Amino acid sequence: MKSTHPVSLRAFCFVSTLALTALLTGCNQPAGDAGQTVGFAQVGAESSWRTAETKSIQDEAEKRGVKLKFSDAQGKQENQIKAVRGFIAQGVGAIILAPVVETGWEPVLREAQQAKIPVVLVDRGVKVGDDSLYATLIASDFVAEGRMAAEWLTKKAAGKAQIIELQGTPGAAPAIDRKRGFEEGIKASPEMKIIASQSGDFTRTGGKQVTEALLKVHPGVTAVYAHNDDMALGAIQALEEAGKKPGTDVLVVSIDGVKGAFEAMVAGKLNCTVECSPLLGALAFDAVEKAKAGAKLEKKTVVPDRVFDQSNAAAELPNRKY
Ligand code: AHR
Repeated sequence: MKSTHPVSLRAFCFVSTLALTALLTGCNQPAGDAGQTVGFAQVGAESSWRTAETKSIQDEAEKRGVKLKFSDAQGKQENQIKAVRGFIAQGVGAIILAPVVETGWEPVLREAQQAKIPVVLVDRGVKVGDDSLYATLIASDFVAEGRMAAEWLTKKAAGKAQIIELQGTPGAAPAIDRKRGFEEGIKASPEMKIIASQSGDFTRTGGKQVTEALLKVHPGVTAVYAHNDDMALGAIQALEEAGKKPGTDVLVVSIDGVKGAFEAMVAGKLNCTVECSPLLGALAFDAVEKAKAGAKLEKKTVVPDRVFDQSNAAAELPNRKY
């Protein structure tokens, strides 16, 4: 039957029906979609460990069919805070944050809490007065890692070493805690001496440059303790260029357990690495799902670490996933 309505009236009815349908089936579609999205505010790409962590989170998101919004803060906290604010404005369902440094997070975490967006911390912790500001932290015990490195070195050096310490990024949890753990670990051995300690910012270039400079002032160094493998690999280069034999003249210990460290141990240039797993994707998304469902999570999940040295590096190398 032919409609008797004038065209403009029919058009009006059509548009109204569309609007009503949108209202009933979720006119908030974009926000609904965003609610299924997870924002990941990453530190940067300073080390091979970091790249492995990014991949682990991205792969897990893909595996679970979760849309991931990724932000690389290039090592700057202000960029990370901006990224988190952006995620909040977009109405994401949850935020995964690997904080560059420990302090300065209260205001933006409170904004996320007010917007009812759970924040899952991965790998590095924050210092806040109110721990309800984040859902959980999934990380290694950095103090224990520093202690394990110290104990290994003390034994190997028979309680006597002149040590150069290469620190991570100033203010970052692993830099603070790995320093503390190492100092605790050598405390009972008065001849284990840290003769210089400087930041190489967790990068290979930083490790190399700082070692080059410190070697000029401390040519009698007998050990290097680096807060991560990338800096140790840079230090190894600097030691070789200075005519020293890393692994023999100068003992080198570090933390992370990346493939490059295992290769250096097999080559006899690195003595020991304490593992710190970056493969946090599955744990992070399990936590995201639970937090979104309103479950109360443990405040911290500690990821276990192991110590590797030249005695087991070759056997372990083929098993390394990062
Ligand atoms: O927070 C973990 C540390 O950050 C890793 O040891 C290091 O390689 C990284 O950049």
